[in-house]
Amino acid sequence: MTNFIKPVIWESDAIRLLNQQKLPGEVEYIFLKTIEDVWDSISELKVRGAPAIGITAAFGLALWAKKSGLNNLEILKSELGVKAEYLNSSRPTAVNLSWALQRLLKAAEEEASAEKVIERLETEAILIQQQDEETCKRIGEYGFSLLPDNANVLTHCNTGAIATSKYGTALGAFYIAKERGADLHVYATETRPVLQGARLTAWELQQAEIDVTLITDNMAAHVLKTKKIDAVLVGADRITANGDTANKIGTYGIAILAKAHGIPFYVAAPLSTIDLHTATGDDIVIEERHAEEVTHIGGKRIAPEDINVFNPAFDVTPSGLISGIVTEKGIVTGDYHTKLKELFEGLTV
Ligand code: MRU
Repeated sequence: MTNFIKPVIWESDAIRLLNQQKLPGEVEYIFLKTIEDVWDSISELKVRGAPAIGITAAFGLALWAKKSGLNNLEILKSELGVKAEYLNSSRPTAVNLSWALQRLLKAAEEEASAEKVIERLETEAILIQQQDEETCKRIGEYGFSLLPDNANVLTHCNTGAIATSKYGTALGAFYIAKERGADLHVYATETRPVLQGARLTAWELQQAEIDVTLITDNMAAHVLKTKKIDAVLVGADRITANGDTANKIGTYGIAILAKAHGIPFYVAAPLSTIDLHTATGDDIVIEERHAEEVTHIGGKRIAPEDINVFNPAFDVTPSGLISGIVTEKGIVTGDYHTKLKELFEGLTV
C-alpha cells in the first residue's frame, strides 16, 4: 500500500496544512488558526489543487464558526454567508472551492440551533474530505483501466494526493498502477510559472517509487512525437456543461499537441469539479496571478525590471480535444453535454 502524505489535517481547533510552497526541499506543516490564515494559504498556493482547496475552505468555514462564539442562529447563518463569500474570493477558477462552501451552507440550513449548525459544519467538512478519498480512488481505478500494459503517459501540473485528500485524480491512475504491480512510465512537465510539475509531481511520484521523468514544458511536443506516449492524463479545475475544461495553464497546448500526434487526451476529475451551471469554457473566470511568478524563479529575478507580464493561471481546453473525462462514476466520452448531466441524475446540483 502507498504511504500517502496528507495535505490537510483537521485538528479540531486549527487546520494543519502541508505548506506546498516549501516542497520539495522541506516537508513543513503550518497551523491555520483563523479564517484569514485559510484565505492567505489558498491564495498563496500553500494549499493548491482543486479538491484540496475545497477541503481546506470547508474546514476554514467550520473553524470560523466554532471560534465565532455566536449563539444566535439567524446571526450565525447570515455571517456564515459573508464568510463563505470571503473564502470563495481566495481563488476564482477551481469550482471545488464554491462547491464545498455551498455544501456547508446548505447543511447549516438544515439545523435548528447555532450549536447544531457549528457541529454540523465540522462533520460536513470531515465528510467532504473522507468522501474525496473514496472518490479519488475510484477515479484512479477508472483512469488505470484506460492505460495499456507498460504505458507511457504524459501529465501536467500536480493532480496527486497532495492536491486532493488521497490518491489524486490523474495521478490516482499511476498510484493504482503501482498498487497493482503494473509497469508504467510517467513524463511530468515542469509546469511554469510556479513549477507544480517539477516541485510537486516529480517529488510525489518519486516518493511513491513510480517511474517518472521530468521535462520542461517546451519539450512536450518532442516527447509526444518520439517517446511512444500512449496517453495524456491531466486534472481539471472546472468542467463546464459542454465538457470544456479549465486546468493549469499549458494544458490546452498539450491537448492540441496530443491531437496532432493521434494520442488520446484524458481529463480526470471528481463530480465536484463539474459545473453544470456554467455553459461553456468561455464563461469561466480565469485567475490572473502576480507578475513575480513569471519574472522570478525561486525568488531570483530572471526578467528585466518593469517588464509587462501576462500571467493567467489556467487555460481552457475545448471538449472537442478531450478523448474522455474520467470521474468516480465512470468515463464519459462523446456527447459531454448529455452525458455529464446524466452523471448527476438523482443528485442535487
Ligand atoms: O494553481 P493550482 O496548482 O491550484 O492548479 C492545479 C491544477 O490545475 C490541477 O491540475 C487541478 O486543480 C486538478 S488537482 C487534482
